[in-house]
Amino acid sequence: MIDHSVISTSQSEGFVETPAVKKIVNRALGYLQAGFAVHLCGPTGTGKTTLAMHLANLMDQPVMLMYGDEEFKTSDLVGDKLGYSKRKLIDNFIHSVLKTEEDVMQRWVNNRLTTAVKEGFTLIYDEFNRSRPEANNALLSVLEEGILSLPTSEEEGGYIKAHPNFRAIFTSNPEEYAGVHKTQDALLDRMVTMHVDYFDEPTETKIIQNRTGIALEDAERIIALIRGFRNTNGIRKVTTIRPGIVIGSILKQKGITADYKNPFFREICLDALSVIRATQEELDLARETICRLIDEHCGGKPFSTSTNGQSSQPQPEADQSRAGTQKDLQPRDNKGRFINLFLKGGER
Ligand SMILES: Nc1ncnc2c1ncn2[C@@H]1O[C@H](COP(=O)(O)OP(=O)(O)O)[C@@H](O)[C@H]1O
Ligand SMILES: [Mg+2]
Repeated sequence: MIDHSVISTSQSEGFVETPAVKKIVNRALGYLQAGFAVHLCGPTGTGKTTLAMHLANLMDQPVMLMYGDEEFKTSDLVGDKLGYSKRKLIDNFIHSVLKTEEDVMQRWVNNRLTTAVKEGFTLIYDEFNRSRPEANNALLSVLEEGILSLPTSEEEGGYIKAHPNFRAIFTSNPEEYAGVHKTQDALLDRMVTMHVDYFDEPTETKIIQNRTGIALEDAERIIALIRGFRNTNGIRKVTTIRPGIVIGSILKQKGITADYKNPFFREICLDALSVIRATQEELDLARETICRLIDEHCGGKPFSTSTNGQSSQPQPEADQSRAGTQKDLQPRDNKGRFINLFLKGGER
């Protein structure tokens, strides 16, 4: 193999293909097979890189992987002339003469894009909009005319023609994300952009199960918690499936289940779902919300309502097991809302 970034084309291990995933895969594969470049665009944690790898595997060619980088220059993409060799000539006849011939022999250093274009590999350019737009200019002619120009090359005649099997898959995060650049329209116009979003509940559940090996019921509970938290307003956060994989992996490792009564489970949920760049107020709200969602989705017994509409006291064991805030020790109703004991049943 030419480069350590060339990945062999074995089947994508553990790839979850529910009907929702299959729909995207089929469309994307159709574009690639028709010769177009595919661009998967969406928030972090929506499965773009995994999908790109899976699609590349299906294309059945060696895969070349590149990551977008602020520091990238065009030469990082296509290669450059690097180094020179120094030849020392010692004149045997006149020993006093020592001739050093510094012969600047530039070597062409193939880089990933050049290699992929030449060899007909499938290129994955992950998070390509982390590179500065001008660094990606070399892609314009590759995607449009199937020609990669090598501005500094003499041996190659200035350009190389793309191998018929060459294909490109791009991924990017939305432009409002930190550290990404606005992509030039001309480049976007040369690829088919597919907007991807968080998967549906059955897909997320299956992913957790596949990645961690936990039981279906535990996976369902964790995903209900993740999705509930994702949909909570008032806290700046990005809630992907990744914390779910963390929680699931620890459950598996410790041989425990997603049970609201287990304080350790509660603590790892609080760690995994912790929000960053949040105010103290948001942090408190986050902890409170996570604890409520654990009670709600992870086997918490609903607080029974007596016939006269008065809420009974919560199960004591549930309270003792909580690792949340003081406020979290307050009783809740069966929807997880804090119960104000001074309210009459009908007023809630
Ligand atoms: N279809 C899938 N099958 C199995 N695991 C998946 C699938 N999609 C995403 N994942 C898992 O979800 C997590 C996030 O996916 P990733 O591809 O890294 O997202 P993104 O690139 O959009 O940030 C990863 O741990 C990945 O293994
Ligand atoms: Mg990614």
